[in-house]
Amino acid sequence: MQKSNVKFIANWKEHKTYNQGVSDFHKILNYCESLNNLDKEVIVCPSYPFLQSFSSELIKSVAVTHLSLGSQDISRFEEGAYTGEVSIKLLNEFVKYAIIGHSERRANFNETDEYVSQKALICFNNQVTPIVCVGEESQVNALASFVGRSFLVAYEPIGAIGTGHPESPERIKDFRRIVSHVLGEEVGFIYGGSTDLSNVNTFLDIPGVSGLLVGGASLKPETFIEMISRI
Ligand code: PGA
Repeated sequence: MQKSNVKFIANWKEHKTYNQGVSDFHKILNYCESLNNLDKEVIVCPSYPFLQSFSSELIKSVAVTHLSLGSQDISRFEEGAYTGEVSIKLLNEFVKYAIIGHSERRANFNETDEYVSQKALICFNNQVTPIVCVGEESQVNALASFVGRSFLVAYEPIGAIGTGHPESPERIKDFRRIVSHVLGEEVGFIYGGSTDLSNVNTFLDIPGVSGLLVGGASLKPETFIEMISRI
């Protein structure tokens, strides 16, 4: 069955110099200008300093119907004396999406389920769609109060991230069932973890998988574009 609105999310993490990022974004933007039906949505999540200039390029381009920006995190506080944080009120001028609860943030920055919930609420209150990363069932259960809200769940098992060993389609199907059970069938479900050119279709063919969160393979725009073109 042909899926509609398949999401390809590029998570650039803490990579790229400014010039590299600008050049790579232009390649993705040019490609998205050539997309003419609405079966694909491309979401680029770069480091914060890129967002303002990418956004002003994007709104001048016809690519805007297929391409959006996302942040890689948001502050769990809306505003105030929180040195180093970036508020949703600044970000929502530029982004449609925000990745929250990525396992790298949970592991390296002590991000808890409570923080992830606070961030999700802030997104809902500020017209940003959260892409909530989860790797375990308990992290899904922690989102139960958001049933009926508009958000995406990205299943990213830790052992699959950046290892070259993606999760098995069987386990992804099982996890989709868990997510549907807790959060409802309607919630968008994305898979991430060692996706690349060789396995795009394997994951997107799984019923209920509506997109991919791509780390390493999104860093080369040519590879990322080729992945998007595969479906
Ligand atoms: P990977 O990263 O594609 O490099 O495994 C995915 C992610 O961390 O979002």
